[in-house]
Amino acid sequence: MLINQPLLFEIQTKRIFPKPFLKWAGGKSQLIDQLTDFFPKDFSRYCEPFAGSAAVYWHIFSLREKGKLSFTSARITDSNAELINTYRIVRDDVRALIELLAAHRKSHNKEYYYQIRSLRPGRLTDIERAARFIYLNKTCFNGLYRVNRSGQFNVPMGSYKDPAIFDVDELVTASQALQDVELAACDFKDTLNWAQAGDFIYFDPPYAPVSKTSSFTSYTEKSFGEREQIELAALFRQLDSRGCKVMLSNSWVKPVLDLYKDFTCIEVKASRAINSNPEKRGKISELVVINYAP
Ligand SMILES: C[S@@+](CC[C@H](N)C(=O)[O-])C[C@H]1O[C@@H](n2cnc3c(N)ncnc32)[C@H](O)[C@@H]1O
Repeated sequence: MLINQPLLFEIQTKRIFPKPFLKWAGGKSQLIDQLTDFFPKDFSRYCEPFAGSAAVYWHIFSLREKGKLSFTSARITDSNAELINTYRIVRDDVRALIELLAAHRKSHNKEYYYQIRSLRPGRLTDIERAARFIYLNKTCFNGLYRVNRSGQFNVPMGSYKDPAIFDVDELVTASQALQDVELAACDFKDTLNWAQAGDFIYFDPPYAPVSKTSSFTSYTEKSFGEREQIELAALFRQLDSRGCKVMLSNSWVKPVLDLYKDFTCIEVKASRAINSNPEKRGKISELVVINYAP
């Protein structure tokens, strides 16, 4: 018993920093150290308009906690309304959410998964929607988010033996990190209504395809095609002329490099595990664009 005491003390005093609690296609966790090298040194507010699992926000928040960055407030947005509702509930009602998640974990099996999947989010309370979203995210095939034309989630169940579903510390830490964060379910173009000179905006859109056969990942009912990539580059330029600091990730492909040729284009290396052909797995080049001195 006595032998365990120092260890227990160490665990209790160890500071836990937030990290993604969702599985998300294109999540930036593995690139975070490379991206950190290119963050601006000072800015007033932070915005992440393609939040997904918000890997970059959690990291930026942790850097501020460690005294390595300072900013006054943050805004996290995404066009996926179910995702943003989940962040809102994690921010405002995390204890009750954990209770609902514990009930999902207790009942989890194949029949239960398809029963929860078939529920219409519009007929649930916001907290039930958030618990359903996290439960499906952690038990579905590869953590994919895909909906049919009527907006109904349609990913089959994954084959996990004992899916974790949630971690109390992780959710409570995320809740604390979201306390002063503005959340909105909206299109990326809404950033223009918010941004002011001195703000830092990080764009992580659905990537442009690297080959003719690769298709865009369908995160929501609407797809993100060439038109949206052009509109995003136009927004990047508008924010640049407004005096904002802007960073963007995308595929290292000529059409995208052409769109950002007036800015600093940096090549970073990412591991891609999502290719079904094992020979094509490995490091691939990705683009990071910034409009300020690195
Ligand atoms: C590459 S993922 C972002 C991943 C995120 N950086 C992370 O670490 O998990 C792209 C995100 O863009 C969102 N999205 C797609 N189209 C959008 C649009 N028109 N406006 C805003 N968000 C959009 C998707 O819902 C998805 O969460």
